Amino acid sequence: MKEGDLPYILEIENVSFPNPWHEMTFRGEIYNQPISSPYVIVFKPQKKVIGYLVFWQIKERIQINNIAIHPDFRRMGIAEAVLHQVLSKIRGAGTKFVTLEVRPSNVAARSLYHKLGFDVLGIKENYYHNPPEPALVMGKKL
Ligand SMILES: CC(C)(COP(=O)(O)OP(=O)(O)OC[C@H]1O[C@@H](n2cnc3c(N)ncnc32)[C@H](O)[C@@H]1OP(=O)(O)O)[C@@H](O)C(=O)NCCC(=O)NCCS
Repeated sequence: MKEGDLPYILEIENVSFPNPWHEMTFRGEIYNQPISSPYVIVFKPQKKVIGYLVFWQIKERIQINNIAIHPDFRRMGIAEAVLHQVLSKIRGAGTKFVTLEVRPSNVAARSLYHKLGFDVLGIKENYYHNPPEPALVMGKKL
């Protein structure tokens, strides 16, 4: 992820979440490397940013903080393929556990994580706003 990617990222972010991240948050992730690992997913034929993934390395654990795919490119197996690739890379680098938070109402994301072998570990009450919702904490041993 580079600063030049931000307009494309924000376009996807704003149609993907009721409470989208602001540009400054993405900028912070870019500056906070290597603690943060912000990546874009590029559709090579058009050199177009069609998604992104942000995760944090916290000792032997990674926390996936954001992932989204452009609506025109969903249900093509892209998020699944990218997460497979990232999980196998970080497993090779010694990471033992991966966690994330998800809205219970986010059926697409929950199905994706379930398919990838994540389990529900717990609930964080009053986690999301607009609309208010708890968060499911999901995790997977690598
Ligand atoms: C969640 C998201 C990243 C999935 O990306 P994607 O590239 O469309 O997902 P994939 O095509 O790789 O799907 C892999 C699996 O996820 C599940 N899945 C994906 N979209 C789904 C949907 N709309 N409904 C139900 N299951 C879905 C399915 O199990 C699917 O496997 P299948 O196609 O064999 O049924 C995408 O819907 C998105 O960007 N949503 C908005 C942002 C978001 O909610 N991010 C997650 C925050 S926690």
